[in-house]
Amino acid sequence: MTDVYKHWRIERDNDSICWLYIDKADGGANVLSGAVLDELNAILDAIVASNPRGVVFLSGKANGFIAGADINEFVPLKEPADALALIQRGQRACDKIAALKCPTLALIHGFCLGGGMELALACRYRIADDDARTRLGLPEIKLGIHPGFGGTVRLPPLVGAPAAMDLMLTGRTVDARTAKKIGLIDYAVPTRHWKRAAREVVMNPPVPHRPKGWLKLTNNSLVRPLLARTMRAKVTEKAPIEHYPAPHALINLWQKYADDPVRMMQEEAASVSRFVLGDTARNLVRVFFLQERLKSLGKKDMIAPRHVHVIGGGVMGGDIAIWCALQGMRVTVQDRKHETLAKVIKRAHALYKKRLKQPRLIQAALDRLMPDDKGVGVSRADVVIEAIFEDILAKQNLYRDIESKLKPGALLATNTSSIPLELLAEALTKPERLVGLHFFNPVAQMQLVEIVSSKLTDPEVARQAAAFARHIDRLPLPVKSSPGFLVNRVLMPYLLEAVTLEWEGVPASVIDKAATDFGMPMGPIRLADTVGLDICLSVAEILAQRLDVDVPPRLRELVGAGRLGVKSGQGFYTYHGDKPQMPRVKPGYVPPPDIAERLILRFLNEAAACLREGVVADADLLDAGVIFGTGFAPFRGGPIHYIQESGVEAQRRKLGELEEHYGKRFVADAEWAEL
Ligand code: NAI
Repeated sequence: MTDVYKHWRIERDNDSICWLYIDKADGGANVLSGAVLDELNAILDAIVASNPRGVVFLSGKANGFIAGADINEFVPLKEPADALALIQRGQRACDKIAALKCPTLALIHGFCLGGGMELALACRYRIADDDARTRLGLPEIKLGIHPGFGGTVRLPPLVGAPAAMDLMLTGRTVDARTAKKIGLIDYAVPTRHWKRAAREVVMNPPVPHRPKGWLKLTNNSLVRPLLARTMRAKVTEKAPIEHYPAPHALINLWQKYADDPVRMMQEEAASVSRFVLGDTARNLVRVFFLQERLKSLGKKDMIAPRHVHVIGGGVMGGDIAIWCALQGMRVTVQDRKHETLAKVIKRAHALYKKRLKQPRLIQAALDRLMPDDKGVGVSRADVVIEAIFEDILAKQNLYRDIESKLKPGALLATNTSSIPLELLAEALTKPERLVGLHFFNPVAQMQLVEIVSSKLTDPEVARQAAAFARHIDRLPLPVKSSPGFLVNRVLMPYLLEAVTLEWEGVPASVIDKAATDFGMPMGPIRLADTVGLDICLSVAEILAQRLDVDVPPRLRELVGAGRLGVKSGQGFYTYHGDKPQMPRVKPGYVPPPDIAERLILRFLNEAAACLREGVVADADLLDAGVIFGTGFAPFRGGPIHYIQESGVEAQRRKLGELEEHYGKRFVADAEWAEL
């Protein structure tokens, strides 16, 4: 029977237990493609006939269990009936597993996500490797859909509604310990024991897990409307229904049908097959592939960095060092000031506590991060990242000082946001070795790193820098060393337009709302306050020298008055901690009708200019960089994609109208003719 299948391997042992290994033939990770599911359906039919003692599902691959459904198969779907058939095929396989009379068990290591998690949920038991690499979850919501292989039906009764709905609505993943705590798995055991544990469960099946105490009541028909209301309110804050309909539909599905699993299964399939074809899911799937593309730009095996040396332990350098140590690097961090280095260690402790939780792991990460006021690490490091003041001479002097001390093949990178690399490289005898690794603030949250090349940068060095970004789990975006690179450049006109609007008398909160209604994660005024108005001003001034932008006097005025944003407690808004106090908008105030257009079209126009100038290699990379670097409404698929989807001509006409009203800052870039 084994040889017949391409993607599955079956072993039947002396106890008559079927060990069913998934090992997808033509891909790096196990995904539930149509072919994999067709084979599974056939295998399950054969298994029923052979009457085994138990069935254990496990993976034949080292990297994990099952990563989910095959997203590639979503892309060509056009007809609702085809989408429905695809979903129902997965449901059928899971239903067959659930219907097996013998004990069934999923033995999980590495990732167990989406459809893979749903397959595991169809089993009677789940055991996971308690290794740090184990991640379980249902991240479908991040693709604009919700679970569709029975997950919405099986998870709430297993773990109770609060945990189930939280997992499905946020798409977050959990480790084996948390999974055990909430009841998503039955046991978390080390790999060396797990086959024995699986055999034990099959031979002496315990009572399957069910939620205890008050959790039992959370799926009750009287309780559901109340819980659903709270969930809806929470979801609406982050994912308004107009932009992200799937989480709202998921809540409705559960509220309406949780008492009727058969009907709920049908409704689940119908709902997912509708969303799969919708704009939000199409664009979020696009974002998923863009992310894969960015990942593929850094080939990890090109370099084997172990030691990173960061010079400058301020806002950025400190956080870069902290991040690199979290990712397993040995890190030395150098600063002229002792107290700055002490602050770095304090910040590291806070982040590691939050992310790593276990004292043993926290201590190990702290041990990897070493304050180094003498700069001893320079000559030992595989990667040296400079993040000192934004000052040409200071940076050049530093390079002169350290160049001869560097290890021969070591990577030398600068985190500069605005100084052309050509200028900085003048201080080096080998200018070709300088590359930009432009991180964003806050480093631990911003996934993107711009890999900046000047005309002098050796392309091989840039590729190594991209590989390094992957080693520390960041997304590399190769960009040209031109003013503002990509992300700051497209953001700046949009931020400055917001400042202008505010100066014209539009309340800041009204401006921000126009942007968040469009789908931005944060309004531009609040973003400027968060980045720091002094930093905005300095980037704006640098861009103004080299590009055709005017810096609104209002920005200088605020910085001059010491109102720097969140960090000084006052900027456009007044802050308590990092929460702004929103002044009330006067009753009866009627905002101008073109706020969103003014903001977004300046953004889009600058994106078009970057494409024309070749700041990045192509339109997809531009969209990817802008989404991951600025949070540009992901469900719109990126600025260039949005221009094309919403109509190049229509958008260009609007730009023309704005130009008539407001002048040359709205002149359409020449690239519009090419779009
Ligand atoms: P910062 O002022 O917070 O930190 C600079 C640190 O460098 C200070 O702690 C200072 O003591 C230290 N330093 C200066 N000269 C030194 C030397 N010769 N040797 C050792 N240490 C020295 O500045 P921040 O904001 O961290 O910026 C650093 C770099 O990162 C700049 O190039 C900036 O353009 C860039 N950047 C800043 C971002 C931000 O949001 N702040 C974002 C992305 C890049």
